[in-house]
Amino acid sequence: MIPYEPQDFPSCPPQQNSDPRLPHRQTSESAQQLKREIGEDSAGYPRQPVPGSNAIEVENSANNAGYPRQSVQSSNSDIVQERQRDFFPRVDEDELMKFKRWATSEEAAEKLIAVEKLIAAEKLNKHRESDSSSSPFRPLHMEFDPATEVQPVEPNRFKAVRQFADAERNRGKVHLMWDTVESKYVIAKVMPNWWVGSCHADFIKNHPDEIEFPWNDIGCMKFLNHRKVPLGVVLLGVYRDERNTEVVSSFATEGDLFMWCSHPERPPAGAEREEIMRPLITQLLRGVRQLHDLNIVHRDISLENILVTKTDRQDDWRLLIIDFGMSDRQRFYEGQPRGKRSYQAPEAHEPGEHDGFLIDAFAVGVVVYCILVNDYPWLSTRPVVDKCFAYAKACGFRSYVQKRTLRNTDIPVASILSEPALRLLEGLLNLDTEQRLTLGEEAWKSDGVSSRKSVWDEDWFQRP
Ligand SMILES: Nc1ncnc2c1ncn2[C@@H]1O[C@H](COP(=O)(O)OP(=O)(O)OP(=O)(O)O)[C@@H](O)[C@H]1O
Ligand SMILES: [Mg+2]
Repeated sequence: MIPYEPQDFPSCPPQQNSDPRLPHRQTSESAQQLKREIGEDSAGYPRQPVPGSNAIEVENSANNAGYPRQSVQSSNSDIVQERQRDFFPRVDEDELMKFKRWATSEEAAEKLIAVEKLIAAEKLNKHRESDSSSSPFRPLHMEFDPATEVQPVEPNRFKAVRQFADAERNRGKVHLMWDTVESKYVIAKVMPNWWVGSCHADFIKNHPDEIEFPWNDIGCMKFLNHRKVPLGVVLLGVYRDERNTEVVSSFATEGDLFMWCSHPERPPAGAEREEIMRPLITQLLRGVRQLHDLNIVHRDISLENILVTKTDRQDDWRLLIIDFGMSDRQRFYEGQPRGKRSYQAPEAHEPGEHDGFLIDAFAVGVVVYCILVNDYPWLSTRPVVDKCFAYAKACGFRSYVQKRTLRNTDIPVASILSEPALRLLEGLLNLDTEQRLTLGEEAWKSDGVSSRKSVWDEDWFQRP
């Protein structure tokens, strides 16, 4: 076995912490330093403009309701001139004169108008299709109508119990509240109005470089509730006063998966922990698959965005997925990586189109590693930034976990994981997107048979 040399992994979380469990969220001092170095903001997301989302493009392409602007009725000569530019970018003068004579005739004008109408009708149909409530491509923010669904704050109804967490990315706070009407605890995510704006279009106008959209999150919660999807928290209402917007939802009793995993009651990494975590991991994989089957890619899966709540049964927990601000209805997309840097699939740093299903699958792999090992595998998937990831990339995941030791011990990570768990992780964290395990989504199937190996083919799930 290769001896462990801490200096080989200087980007790992600091070793001096005596608590062997998940030691800190990714906003610790060392992580903050790393962020400063790689130019990421305090929530762990890279700061880069989203292609196609600057204010001018939004202004030009959409009106306030989010529909693309219909072009103003052009006059015949406008249309002719536009067509001439399109048809003859590099023709000789004679050809152009001939065309001009034809194009200014009445017959040509009629033809062009007819073509123009057809194009406009086709465009309109496409948008009607994607805006219609049954469309699987309907933008998530459209599931919630701020104009009619936001209510005034009811000051006597919700009583603050305590602050529960920061909503860093949304410049807000998450509060535990007591609902005096329903007599139950609820969660209120309180965001300042200057940040959240009055609707999605307003938000984009004010924050053209943002890649996380609060109205997407609200719309997605409502959509999942409407479809009775078990992994969604219940959206209880959106309230607003002159300063803040409060998104009130059902309370997950155990907090997020980070809190749950690092709770002192959980057993340390090893066989017992694997057994306890198996039902939760199964729920997670099923839940993300269900999202994908509903045509939603999450793009920000992390320990903090998965909640745990107790059910009525002893030692039984249910997982909920939150924070759909970066989610989208488009499976394939281009552009910068989304989500927190430990969880970003390596291909997301490359140019070109990415498969959101496989990007989420990689992030799920990182979550599964964190759950089982109680530590992060790496802090970033940019090899130049993180030596742990660079090692895994160069030598393979298996040899990485043979070398990487559990925090504050000399026990190699590979030695405490069962062989089926190792294979599951290897499959989900495969850097080759062609080989990465899928979550068994319907989209991979034709005639009911999957064209790719999925997590459900793994031995880890074959146990009773
Ligand atoms: N319904 C809930 N029940 C229990 N805890 C919750 C609930 N909703 C949110 N939280 C806690 O609040 C944290 C932040 O919530 P959320 O992810 O929605 O906000 P955010 O603005 O995206 O913040 P961040 O930038 O930290 O992701 C979660 O990680 C979780 O710890
Ligand atoms: Mg979050």
